[in-house]
Amino acid sequence: MNPPSPHHRWPQRAAGDAPGLGYGADYNPEQWPREVWPQDIRLMREAGVTVVTLAVFSWARLEPAEGRWDFGWLDEVMDLLHEAGISVDLATATASPPPWLAERHPEILPVNASGQTLWPGGRQHWRPTSPVFRAYALRLVEKLATRYGGHPALAAWHVNNELGCHNVHDYSDDAARAFRTWLRARYGTLDALNHAWSTSFWSQVYGDWQQILPPRLAAAPVNPTQQLDFKRFSSDALKDHLRAERDLLRRLTPDIPVTTNFMVMGGGQDAMDYADWAAEVDFVANDHYVVPGPQALDELSFSANLTSGIAGGRPWFLMEHSTSAVNWQQVNVAKRPGELARDSLLHVAHGADAVCFFQWRQSAGGAEKYHSAMVPHAGADSDVFRAVTALGRTLADLAPVAGSVRRPARAAILFDWESWWTAELDSHPTSRLRYRQEALDWYSAFLDLGVRADVITTRADLTGYDLVVAPVLHVVPRALADRLTAFAEGGGHLVTTYFSGIVDENDHVWLGGHPGALRDLLGIRVEEMAPLLDGESVPLDDGGTGTLWTDRVKVTDPSVSVVASYAAGDLAGGPAVTRRPLPGGGSATYVSTRLGPQGLGPLLARLLDAAGIRGDLPAEVAGEVELVVRTDGGGDFWFLVNRTDRPVQVPLGAGKLLVGEQAPAEGGDTGAVLLAPRGVAVVRHER
Ligand code: GAL
Repeated sequence: MNPPSPHHRWPQRAAGDAPGLGYGADYNPEQWPREVWPQDIRLMREAGVTVVTLAVFSWARLEPAEGRWDFGWLDEVMDLLHEAGISVDLATATASPPPWLAERHPEILPVNASGQTLWPGGRQHWRPTSPVFRAYALRLVEKLATRYGGHPALAAWHVNNELGCHNVHDYSDDAARAFRTWLRARYGTLDALNHAWSTSFWSQVYGDWQQILPPRLAAAPVNPTQQLDFKRFSSDALKDHLRAERDLLRRLTPDIPVTTNFMVMGGGQDAMDYADWAAEVDFVANDHYVVPGPQALDELSFSANLTSGIAGGRPWFLMEHSTSAVNWQQVNVAKRPGELARDSLLHVAHGADAVCFFQWRQSAGGAEKYHSAMVPHAGADSDVFRAVTALGRTLADLAPVAGSVRRPARAAILFDWESWWTAELDSHPTSRLRYRQEALDWYSAFLDLGVRADVITTRADLTGYDLVVAPVLHVVPRALADRLTAFAEGGGHLVTTYFSGIVDENDHVWLGGHPGALRDLLGIRVEEMAPLLDGESVPLDDGGTGTLWTDRVKVTDPSVSVVASYAAGDLAGGPAVTRRPLPGGGSATYVSTRLGPQGLGPLLARLLDAAGIRGDLPAEVAGEVELVVRTDGGGDFWFLVNRTDRPVQVPLGAGKLLVGEQAPAEGGDTGAVLLAPRGVAVVRHER
């Protein structure tokens, strides 16, 4: 897990007056006539709502013209919520600038790589590095902090919204200036930059900082280290905006915790290095939306698990997810019965102490009118609202879970934003590699075997883990190679895959044969990478099948055993999976091809055996049920999540059922938990 942030402060009032889990939504009263507000409040109470996020996109209503402020409506809404015992996570409203600002200062508008301006009409049309935007935004933040800092409903500040959702990569002149400043701080001298960027290649040697640009659309692929540094810079530029708002808030309202909603989720949101951002907020908040597909549920679990990892294992806040369909996918699938609660509770299992939706009331107009909500178009007399209300009761029953932490597993998957960014740059052996997918495939294999695994980042302490899988760990600076070596030499079992250990922090290849940084540890040498064409596959002699990638692997250390070999084609007889045992009882395993979620199962089972790791659930339900454990001083909470569409029974043992249904006990047995299709149960085990 990430080292815990020194600033962790949970919003005390997020769960209302009583200690417990928070429950709520983004609430947009400004989109509705005043008469609807009391009805909203009544339904919120009926649903068990304890906290709402307000004013996310309200700038144009709060400051309808420059310097003209209108807080009356927000005062009233804050008071109404307070009277109803509902707390407020108040947004700083800076996410979407009002029309007058873009009209007066078009220089705040972002520019894409082709030099086209991104115009107003949508949202988040501002340059992260614009000093003009920053000044206007901070003025608004100051107004809100001064006005509402002492309001009794205020539980937390919500900086901006999903920083970088639409504007992370800005190629404007402001960005160019800020990029140069960032590069000077990183490299100090142009010589150092020229070296890091390998600028002798293609005649790119820089003689003046002014010559350096963001990676704008060019005639040929742009320098890869320039691209990588621009990704690092873009993440930092938004982090800088977060800090600017946060610092002002901390100065004006030191007692109110500050957060912003991250986007740890599937679907390609790779631009913000949240492992790096986590230490900037008082508590981690995340948004998650399900992308339909065979691994959709595993992906939710993976994201929640990773969010817990970057939060240092401490409780975090699920700021947004959906009650049913979203509006921004190609086909927006409605959730099936049970999924609303299951998805929410799976986040809680992985450490969420607050469960919020986008949004409270489904809008009648605007771009998101087909996005689900707690109160749908159909109104409160609807299955969605009934499911919402039922979930409110379940969360209230789970009050004792609040404040408990996720119990670490013995196995972990290492996830690294730098490797994600770099492994997917252009001009590589294949353009088909998907970094997050490989990590998710390993995670699915763990789930299918019924074995818990944490998703951690390269900042995490590896002590305590017996098995660490580092899929496509492409960027391995010397210090990371040393840490991984120390882990394996200290008795840990390390597994890594194709395209790992290839480059250093400057995206320079470690020479002498791949995977340069980990070659000695693995006891192998790859002379050539040999990716496969679409549709091509290679059989392995253990019955497995490789796709996407192969390597021409040579064993260099006689102690290495070949776990599986290629069984056909040019590579026939060559090692596909190797394992080097280490004197301290640990090992280093290399997997040179993509085996996919199912294909990884048999291999992972052997790796787990060697590491002495077993699942905690009986074999007959392993794979059908995901187990996540949260723990407090007195015992453990076992979250049992049915991954199937069938009912499943899990023995209850000595546990006490907090949520879920108990199957009748027969004879002397202690009974079983009956999980409905897609159902969740929570069992308390006292210590
Ligand atoms: C998020 C955003 C919300 C809403 C939601 C829809 O990106 O923060 O405002 O747009 O997606 O799924």
